[in-house]
Amino acid sequence: MKEIIYFSKSQSVFILDQTLLPFKVKYVESKNYKSIIKLIKKLSIRGAPAIGVAGSFAAYLAIKDLKSKSKINLIKDVTKRLNEIGSSRPTAVNLMWSMKRFHNLLLSNSTKDHIDLTNLFLKEAKYIFNHEKKVSTLISKIGSSIFFKNCKVITHCNTGSLATTGPGTALGVIKIANKRYKGIQVFATETRPLMQGSRLTVWECEQNNIDCTLITDSMVSHVIKENQINLVIVGADRVAINGDIANKIGTYQLAIACNYHKIPFYVAAPLSTFDFNSKNGEDIVIEQRSSDEVTKIMGYQISKAKKIANPAFDVTPRELVSGIITEKGIIKNPNKKIISKLKDYCC
Ligand code: MRU
Repeated sequence: MKEIIYFSKSQSVFILDQTLLPFKVKYVESKNYKSIIKLIKKLSIRGAPAIGVAGSFAAYLAIKDLKSKSKINLIKDVTKRLNEIGSSRPTAVNLMWSMKRFHNLLLSNSTKDHIDLTNLFLKEAKYIFNHEKKVSTLISKIGSSIFFKNCKVITHCNTGSLATTGPGTALGVIKIANKRYKGIQVFATETRPLMQGSRLTVWECEQNNIDCTLITDSMVSHVIKENQINLVIVGADRVAINGDIANKIGTYQLAIACNYHKIPFYVAAPLSTFDFNSKNGEDIVIEQRSSDEVTKIMGYQISKAKKIANPAFDVTPRELVSGIITEKGIIKNPNKKIISKLKDYCC
């Protein structure tokens, strides 16, 4: 597979439209930042690290197009656009993390002219792309140490090459473990309502010769008990400073089931997913998405419900997390004392 996002010689950004997978592989061209915002909002590109990377290329297109009359206006206009990009999806903190990097870059180079600033933005977008690739490779290697021969694992949502620019976070760990140990069996939840598990994770597992069984979200407790699952590993959209984690809706119930059955529940996430401004899970904004995603399946109306809730993420309290696998190592029993020390490493 080609990269999920790439920058072309014609100065536009091409993004793999994940809403069409696994049936169609199609790249969409973006010539301006608004088009990337639309793709982020409709989940054509999704997964916390990938959203941060897409936002970075949007930042480059945002400054490139501007026709501001003065330097002061340029700084004001770019800042406004960065805020607009940063708010296109509210939970995955990687997007805010990358926009903050662009804002700092802008302020520390405020004397430079428009062309120089535009070139700096492109360099930064490429840096963030490569950085996320490097850290997801590290996470995958480090995390594979929790696996063993014949290990049975449940994963939720999609956390592979489609969600990062490298092998992935949780699914990246599984990919390396599958190369290191024989008999790895994966159970992938379908991940209602947008089916990132059944559409994307199953597809990535097939491409990587991973033994994968698709299950619905409501089967997890039963499968843990009946199939003697050894561990669960998921990604994260935001990690609070006390170790609470926000991830795809359905993660919390999975963690509760692990706790009841006394099996480890691991989270794999780069430091760009850590939010040192969120004290705990209560500070994390949960994205509420359109009710159509619940009442329709692939555009087909399946319910006449009038009252619908569609939170896209939930928060798992730190007490239920056995460890967070990062590019700096595994944080066992995460807590404020250990996580706050990581702030210095966070690029
Ligand atoms: O709504 P999505 O598909 O962007 O949600 C993705 C997830 O919840 C992933 O688990 C998370 O971003 C980690 S991806 C490495």
